[in-house]
Amino acid sequence: MAVDKAMLLAMMAAAKDVRERAYAPYSGFKVGAAVLGGSGKKVYLGCNVENASYGLSLCAERVAISRAISEGEKTISAVVIVGGEKAPARPCGACLQVMAEFAPRDEPLVIATVAEDMSYDVHTLDEYLPMRFELE
Ligand code: THU
Repeated sequence: MAVDKAMLLAMMAAAKDVRERAYAPYSGFKVGAAVLGGSGKKVYLGCNVENASYGLSLCAERVAISRAISEGEKTISAVVIVGGEKAPARPCGACLQVMAEFAPRDEPLVIATVAEDMSYDVHTLDEYLPMRFELE
């Protein structure tokens, strides 16, 4: 695994904090995300940002991934998502496809999902999205 447990736990704490900044007046569903850049050194944060025109709402994961790429990361190594009261919220299909765009070729992209009580599980992108769209 390209990310150790200490890093994952630190990312969970950061994602929990940024979740507080979620702008979710329409759904009331707050999500925080932390993304580890492929450099392995820097973590990028994001929260969901909703809009009165609902379809324009941004998921926390895509905000965090966009920040990572904007800062010069070429790939991402791990994504941590905090959301959901009892069970951890799963990344949506659109976010999985965006993760696939920046997943490393040579190792699994780790996805940890965390509930409000900080219970969590860890899977890989291949488990969530075994077949994905790719240009030929
Ligand atoms: N949301 C995320 O931020 N990430 C996901 O993977 C699923 C859903 C947000 C979008 C919207 O603001 C709220 O959760 C309810 O769907």
